[in-house]
Amino acid sequence: MRKLILILGVLFMACNSSSNFLVIGHRGAMGYETENTIASIEKAIELGVSMIEIDVLRIKSGEVMVFHDKRVDRLTNGAGEIEDYYMADVLALNLVGGHKIPTLQKVLKAVDGRVKINIELKGKRTASKVDQIIRVYERREGYPLSNYVISSFDWEELDAFRALNQEVDVAVLTDADPLQAISKAQELNAVAINPYYKNIHAEIVEQIHNAGFKVYTYTVNEEADIASVKEMGVDGIFCDYPDRAL
Ligand code: G3P
Ligand code: CA
Repeated sequence: MRKLILILGVLFMACNSSSNFLVIGHRGAMGYETENTIASIEKAIELGVSMIEIDVLRIKSGEVMVFHDKRVDRLTNGAGEIEDYYMADVLALNLVGGHKIPTLQKVLKAVDGRVKINIELKGKRTASKVDQIIRVYERREGYPLSNYVISSFDWEELDAFRALNQEVDVAVLTDADPLQAISKAQELNAVAINPYYKNIHAEIVEQIHNAGFKVYTYTVNEEADIASVKEMGVDGIFCDYPDRAL
Protein backbone atom coordinates (compact mmCIF):
# COMPACT_ATOMS: atom_id res chain seq x y z
CA MET A 1 0.00 0.00 0.00
CA ARG A 2 2.78 2.43 0.99
CA LYS A 3 4.56 1.61 -2.26
CA LEU A 4 1.40 2.33 -4.26
CA ILE A 5 0.93 5.71 -2.55
CA LEU A 6 4.58 6.53 -3.29
CA ILE A 7 4.22 5.62 -6.97
CA LEU A 8 1.01 7.67 -7.25
CA GLY A 9 2.77 10.60 -5.56
CA VAL A 10 5.69 10.47 -8.02
CA LEU A 11 3.30 10.20 -10.96
CA PHE A 12 1.32 13.18 -9.66
CA MET A 13 4.51 15.25 -9.28
CA ALA A 14 5.70 14.27 -12.76
CA CYS A 15 2.38 15.27 -14.34
CA ASN A 16 2.29 18.45 -12.33
CA SER A 17 5.84 19.51 -13.13
CA SER A 18 5.47 18.89 -16.88
CA SER A 19 2.22 20.88 -16.94
CA ASN A 20 3.99 23.76 -15.18
CA PHE A 21 6.79 23.74 -17.73
CA LEU A 22 6.21 26.69 -20.06
CA VAL A 23 7.03 26.30 -23.74
CA ILE A 24 7.27 29.72 -25.34
CA GLY A 25 6.99 29.86 -29.12
CA HIS A 26 10.13 31.72 -30.18
CA ARG A 27 9.37 34.53 -32.64
CA GLY A 28 6.15 32.53 -33.10
CA ALA A 29 7.29 29.17 -34.33
CA MET A 30 10.28 30.28 -36.37
CA GLY A 31 11.42 26.73 -37.05
CA TYR A 32 8.38 26.38 -39.30
CA GLU A 33 7.43 29.85 -40.58
CA THR A 34 9.20 33.14 -41.19
CA GLU A 35 9.98 34.56 -37.75
CA ASN A 36 7.88 37.29 -36.15
CA THR A 37 5.11 37.04 -38.76
CA ILE A 38 1.41 36.44 -38.25
CA ALA A 39 1.92 33.05 -39.96
CA SER A 40 4.63 32.11 -37.46
CA ILE A 41 2.45 33.16 -34.53
CA GLU A 42 -0.53 31.24 -35.92
CA LYS A 43 1.69 28.19 -36.29
CA ALA A 44 2.80 28.41 -32.65
CA ILE A 45 -0.81 28.70 -31.49
CA GLU A 46 -1.81 25.77 -33.70
CA LEU A 47 0.97 23.71 -32.09
CA GLY A 48 -0.53 24.42 -28.68
CA VAL A 49 1.69 26.98 -26.95
CA SER A 50 0.25 29.18 -24.24
CA MET A 51 2.80 31.95 -24.80
CA ILE A 52 4.63 33.36 -27.80
CA GLU A 53 7.66 35.60 -27.90
CA ILE A 54 8.12 38.48 -30.35
CA ASP A 55 10.75 41.19 -30.85
CA VAL A 56 9.93 44.85 -31.33
CA LEU A 57 11.79 47.81 -32.82
CA ARG A 58 10.68 51.39 -33.32
CA ILE A 59 10.97 52.86 -36.80
CA LYS A 60 11.69 56.45 -37.83
CA SER A 61 8.03 57.42 -38.17
CA GLY A 62 7.38 56.16 -34.62
CA GLU A 63 5.54 52.86 -35.17
CA VAL A 64 6.52 49.71 -33.27
CA MET A 65 7.27 46.89 -35.69
CA VAL A 66 7.56 43.20 -34.86
CA PHE A 67 11.01 42.39 -36.18
CA HIS A 68 14.22 40.95 -34.76
CA ASP A 69 17.21 42.28 -36.70
CA LYS A 70 18.69 45.75 -36.62
CA ARG A 71 19.01 45.51 -40.41
CA VAL A 72 16.34 44.36 -42.85
CA ASP A 73 18.83 42.65 -45.19
CA ARG A 74 18.66 39.07 -43.88
CA LEU A 75 14.90 38.72 -43.99
CA THR A 76 13.59 41.13 -46.64
CA ASN A 77 14.19 42.36 -50.16
CA GLY A 78 15.42 45.68 -48.74
CA ALA A 79 18.60 46.97 -47.15
CA GLY A 80 19.66 49.14 -44.22
CA GLU A 81 18.62 49.64 -40.62
CA ILE A 82 14.91 49.28 -39.88
CA GLU A 83 15.05 52.17 -37.41
CA ASP A 84 15.81 54.47 -40.36
CA TYR A 85 12.65 53.42 -42.20
CA TYR A 86 9.36 55.30 -42.45
CA MET A 87 6.14 53.31 -42.36
CA ALA A 88 5.47 53.63 -46.11
CA ASP A 89 8.87 52.09 -46.85
CA VAL A 90 8.39 49.26 -44.35
CA LEU A 91 5.06 48.47 -46.00
CA ALA A 92 6.87 48.11 -49.33
CA LEU A 93 9.26 45.48 -47.93
CA ASN A 94 8.61 41.81 -48.59
CA LEU A 95 9.74 39.25 -46.05
CA VAL A 96 11.03 35.81 -46.96
CA GLY A 97 7.97 33.72 -47.88
CA GLY A 98 6.02 36.75 -49.13
CA HIS A 99 5.01 37.97 -45.67
CA LYS A 100 4.84 41.55 -44.44
CA ILE A 101 6.44 42.94 -41.29
CA PRO A 102 3.56 43.40 -38.83
CA THR A 103 3.03 46.26 -36.43
CA LEU A 104 2.67 45.36 -32.75
CA GLN A 105 -1.01 46.34 -32.99
CA LYS A 106 -1.57 43.92 -35.84
CA VAL A 107 -0.05 41.09 -33.80
CA LEU A 108 -2.15 41.92 -30.74
CA LYS A 109 -5.30 41.83 -32.88
CA ALA A 110 -4.28 38.60 -34.59
CA VAL A 111 -3.53 36.89 -31.27
CA ASP A 112 -6.79 38.27 -29.87
CA GLY A 113 -6.04 37.11 -26.32
CA ARG A 114 -5.65 33.43 -27.27
CA VAL A 115 -2.15 33.17 -25.79
CA LYS A 116 0.13 35.30 -23.64
CA ILE A 117 2.75 37.43 -25.37
CA ASN A 118 6.34 37.99 -24.31
CA ILE A 119 7.28 41.28 -25.95
CA GLU A 120 11.06 41.66 -26.15
CA LEU A 121 12.09 45.30 -26.36
CA LYS A 122 14.80 44.89 -28.98
CA GLY A 123 15.19 48.52 -29.91
CA LYS A 124 15.63 51.84 -28.17
CA ARG A 125 12.59 54.02 -27.37
CA THR A 126 10.26 51.03 -27.55
CA ALA A 127 9.27 51.03 -23.85
CA SER A 128 6.93 54.03 -23.88
CA LYS A 129 5.26 53.04 -27.16
CA VAL A 130 4.70 49.45 -26.06
CA ASP A 131 3.23 50.65 -22.76
CA GLN A 132 0.91 52.99 -24.68
CA ILE A 133 -0.20 50.31 -27.15
CA ILE A 134 -0.97 47.59 -24.61
CA ARG A 135 -2.96 50.08 -22.52
CA VAL A 136 -4.98 51.18 -25.56
CA TYR A 137 -5.72 47.55 -26.42
CA GLU A 138 -6.72 46.86 -22.82
CA ARG A 139 -9.31 49.65 -23.03
CA ARG A 140 -10.40 49.08 -26.62
CA GLU A 141 -10.31 45.28 -26.97
CA GLY A 142 -10.28 44.12 -23.36
CA TYR A 143 -6.88 42.40 -23.58
CA PRO A 144 -5.71 42.36 -19.94
CA LEU A 145 -2.24 43.59 -19.02
CA SER A 146 -1.72 40.21 -17.37
CA ASN A 147 -1.46 38.79 -20.91
CA TYR A 148 2.05 40.20 -21.31
CA VAL A 149 5.62 39.76 -20.20
CA ILE A 150 8.02 42.53 -21.18
CA SER A 151 11.68 41.50 -21.49
CA SER A 152 14.91 42.98 -22.78
CA PHE A 153 18.66 42.60 -22.89
CA ASP A 154 18.66 46.38 -22.74
CA TRP A 155 18.16 46.93 -19.03
CA GLU A 156 17.81 50.71 -19.49
CA GLU A 157 14.82 50.07 -21.73
CA LEU A 158 13.38 47.77 -19.05
CA ASP A 159 13.92 50.54 -16.47
CA ALA A 160 12.03 52.92 -18.75
CA PHE A 161 9.17 50.46 -19.09
CA ARG A 162 8.95 49.78 -15.35
CA ALA A 163 8.93 53.51 -14.58
CA LEU A 164 5.80 53.81 -16.74
CA ASN A 165 4.13 50.56 -15.82
CA GLN A 166 4.28 48.73 -12.49
CA GLU A 167 1.53 46.21 -13.32
CA VAL A 168 2.90 44.20 -16.20
CA ASP A 169 5.27 41.27 -15.64
CA VAL A 170 8.88 41.98 -16.55
CA ALA A 171 11.72 39.52 -17.24
CA VAL A 172 15.43 40.30 -17.32
CA LEU A 173 17.20 38.86 -20.36
CA THR A 174 20.89 38.10 -20.10
CA ASP A 175 23.50 36.55 -22.33
CA ALA A 176 26.13 36.76 -19.57
CA ASP A 177 26.42 35.31 -16.04
CA PRO A 178 22.74 34.91 -15.02
CA LEU A 179 23.53 35.52 -11.34
CA GLN A 180 24.53 39.06 -12.21
CA ALA A 181 20.94 39.69 -13.30
CA ILE A 182 19.51 39.01 -9.84
CA SER A 183 20.01 42.53 -8.48
CA LYS A 184 18.42 44.00 -11.63
CA ALA A 185 15.48 41.63 -11.30
CA GLN A 186 15.04 42.69 -7.67
CA GLU A 187 15.21 46.37 -8.59
CA LEU A 188 12.59 45.91 -11.34
CA ASN A 189 10.33 43.65 -9.28
CA ALA A 190 10.68 41.21 -12.18
CA VAL A 191 9.08 37.79 -12.34
CA ALA A 192 11.88 36.01 -14.16
CA ILE A 193 15.46 35.94 -15.35
CA ASN A 194 15.85 34.63 -18.90
CA PRO A 195 19.39 33.34 -19.50
CA TYR A 196 21.11 31.70 -22.46
CA TYR A 197 20.84 27.94 -21.94
CA LYS A 198 24.59 27.41 -22.29
CA ASN A 199 25.19 29.75 -19.34
CA ILE A 200 23.19 27.77 -16.78
CA HIS A 201 23.49 24.68 -14.62
CA ALA A 202 21.35 23.30 -11.81
CA GLU A 203 23.00 25.36 -9.03
CA ILE A 204 22.49 28.60 -10.94
CA VAL A 205 18.83 27.76 -11.50
CA GLU A 206 18.48 27.00 -7.80
CA GLN A 207 20.09 30.27 -6.78
CA ILE A 208 17.78 32.24 -9.07
CA HIS A 209 14.79 30.35 -7.69
CA ASN A 210 15.96 31.03 -4.14
CA ALA A 211 16.10 34.72 -5.01
CA GLY A 212 12.42 34.46 -5.95
CA PHE A 213 12.54 34.44 -9.74
CA LYS A 214 11.49 31.99 -12.43
CA VAL A 215 13.97 30.86 -15.09
CA TYR A 216 12.99 30.77 -18.77
CA THR A 217 15.95 29.89 -20.93
CA TYR A 218 16.54 30.54 -24.65
CA THR A 219 16.67 29.20 -27.36
CA VAL A 220 16.46 25.49 -26.76
CA ASN A 221 15.65 23.43 -29.84
CA GLU A 222 17.39 20.05 -29.63
CA GLU A 223 15.68 17.20 -27.77
CA ALA A 224 18.81 16.49 -25.68
CA ASP A 225 19.14 20.15 -24.66
CA ILE A 226 15.44 20.35 -23.81
CA ALA A 227 15.82 17.30 -21.55
CA SER A 228 18.99 18.74 -20.01
CA VAL A 229 17.51 22.14 -19.05
CA LYS A 230 14.38 20.42 -17.73
CA GLU A 231 16.67 18.33 -15.52
CA MET A 232 18.27 21.56 -14.25
CA GLY A 233 14.84 22.67 -13.06
CA VAL A 234 14.12 25.61 -15.36
CA ASP A 235 10.53 26.82 -15.51
CA GLY A 236 10.35 26.95 -19.27
CA ILE A 237 12.10 27.47 -22.57
CA PHE A 238 11.93 29.56 -25.71
CA CYS A 239 11.77 27.15 -28.62
CA ASP A 240 11.69 27.50 -32.43
CA TYR A 241 9.89 24.12 -32.67
CA PRO A 242 7.48 24.28 -29.72
CA ASP A 243 5.98 20.87 -30.51
CA ARG A 244 9.31 19.27 -29.54
CA ALA A 245 8.81 20.38 -25.93
CA LEU A 246 5.05 20.37 -25.47
O1 G3P B 1 13.76 36.16 -25.41
C1 G3P B 1 14.56 35.07 -25.71
C2 G3P B 1 15.28 35.21 -27.02
O2 G3P B 1 14.38 35.65 -27.99
C3 G3P B 1 16.42 36.16 -26.96
O3 G3P B 1 17.27 36.11 -28.05
O4 G3P B 1 18.20 36.92 -30.18
O5 G3P B 1 16.30 35.37 -30.22
O6 G3P B 1 15.97 37.73 -29.51
P1 G3P B 1 16.91 36.55 -29.55
CA1 CA C 1 13.75 37.67 -28.96
